[in-house]
Amino acid sequence: MAPSRAQVAETPDDLLSDPIAWLFAEHHRHRQFCDLMQRTSMATNYDEALLSWLLDFVVHELALHVLDEEEDLFPLMRARAQPEDDLDKVLTRLSGEHAKDLTRAAAVRRHLETCLRQQAPISRSNVRRRALESFAVQERSHLALENAVVLPIARLRLTERDLVELSNRLATRRGIARRPARRADPKIGAG
Ligand SMILES: [Fe+2]
Ligand SMILES: [Fe+2]
Repeated sequence: MAPSRAQVAETPDDLLSDPIAWLFAEHHRHRQFCDLMQRTSMATNYDEALLSWLLDFVVHELALHVLDEEEDLFPLMRARAQPEDDLDKVLTRLSGEHAKDLTRAAAVRRHLETCLRQQAPISRSNVRRRALESFAVQERSHLALENAVVLPIARLRLTERDLVELSNRLATRRGIARRPARRADPKIGAG
């Protein structure tokens, strides 16, 4: 199957009424983005529209997602986590990865811009191909840690009011109208 942007699902806005479910869905979307970037890195044909789309995702969506977590989710988690959650070390590690991600994303951006300027596929240069692949690998392990540890604890610890606030802030960052948040069954999406 040729790499295509259709392989990355949109996260429906409606899901913002349950911000934890929305973050799980965003992580799923980001994993699909990583898979697509990796497949595109290996392709031998030049696909300008696809490279432009990947560039746009790296520049806008990844940056927004880091803000969602650094400005909204993680501060709430630091406030609500209980000592037995042992969350401090994990959040410190993830924040460190966010800082590195932004540097690595800038490099990925430059590589994609070079490909577009030269009208060359990523695979034309081993340096570029490897940089994009290692970005995808690192992102996947970051997402896995957030899914396994942070979001399940968020599901347990955030209050109704926190969820409404989080939902509003995520929506506002994207210019989406406010929606009432509801607390879902803690068992759903906690695994
Ligand atoms: Fe993150
Ligand atoms: Fe995340």
